[in-house]
Amino acid sequence: MSTPETAQLVRAGGAHLPDALAAVEGLLIEAGGGNGDVLRAHAQATIAAGGKRLRPLLLLLVAGEPPDQATAARLQRAAAAVELIHSATLVHDDVLDGASLRRGQPTVVALAGREMATATGDLLFARAFALLAREEDPLPVRILSEACSGLALGELLQRADAWDPGVSLERYLLRCELKTARLFEAACRLGASTEAPDLAPFGRDIGLAFQMLDDVLDVSGPAERTGKHRGADLLDGTITLPLILARERDRDLAALDPREITTPEQAEAVCRRIAETGALEAAREHALALVAGARALLDAHAASLGPGRYEALGLVAESVVRRYS
Ligand code: IPE
Ligand code: IPE
Ligand code: MG
Ligand code: MG
Repeated sequence: MSTPETAQLVRAGGAHLPDALAAVEGLLIEAGGGNGDVLRAHAQATIAAGGKRLRPLLLLLVAGEPPDQATAARLQRAAAAVELIHSATLVHDDVLDGASLRRGQPTVVALAGREMATATGDLLFARAFALLAREEDPLPVRILSEACSGLALGELLQRADAWDPGVSLERYLLRCELKTARLFEAACRLGASTEAPDLAPFGRDIGLAFQMLDDVLDVSGPAERTGKHRGADLLDGTITLPLILARERDRDLAALDPREITTPEQAEAVCRRIAETGALEAAREHALALVAGARALLDAHAASLGPGRYEALGLVAESVVRRYS
């Protein structure tokens, strides 16, 4: 959270935001503690590896400046819970995807094996719900448990689709919706208040675009920029938008059996070939259209959002796109 763009975003989001984000960090560190030295080490390392904290930021921006200290504390707990869920899913996702690099660091599964990574993810999930259990209102628990169910279903569908090169665009979009967009949507719902406009569709659309562009980054690389290995999706049989679109443009790619891609070098070569078809730009266009739709939704609510929040949420939408270019 230290680029000039994020600084601008935090400024636009309001004077309360830096303290709120710092409080969320504190809650995250606290939540990673306890439960024995080994689990604590992995949970805290995951949190300390420093993600972009996009989902808590979204939640706090949607919420706007809280009217009192109790509301501020409640929102900070919800924001930390969303990030803990996100971190938990990443630790589990790396088990499912057999990924060795995350946030530029070795994954928990690579360092300590499946059992430890599973337990670390479970711990992070549990800590998220423990934070929410401090509220009287059961709605936040319901919102996040629904998002978690969607995430699990999305991951299962992705495994069921593995190695199937003919997977449809609709099915791919459904996976993105479940796996990624639902948590962005949940962040917006958790930040919502009765006075604020409903920004859940905004969260959904930038979440979908975010996953599409993540899938583009998997093909475009390089690892130094993404913190993950190039072609990792191809190697674990995950067929995503770039290949779906490239198969329509290149007969050799259409005939390719993804099971034949077994080494990082082969995956790199297929990534280059996909890029040559122009499919990455086409995939990017899909994502840009979603972000444009999300921005139009902000425009429609500009008056009730107020200038600061309007600008900051626009910058969040832009940051999803900027991640690619
Ligand atoms: C990665 O999410 C997983 C996807 C949904 C594509 P982020 O890119 O937000 O991960 P961090 O938290 O910043 O590492
Ligand atoms: C997103 O999918 C993971 C979750 C939403 C759990 P990916 O598998 O594409 O995410 P990365 O590329 O590993 O970060
Ligand atoms: Mg993955
Ligand atoms: Mg990915």
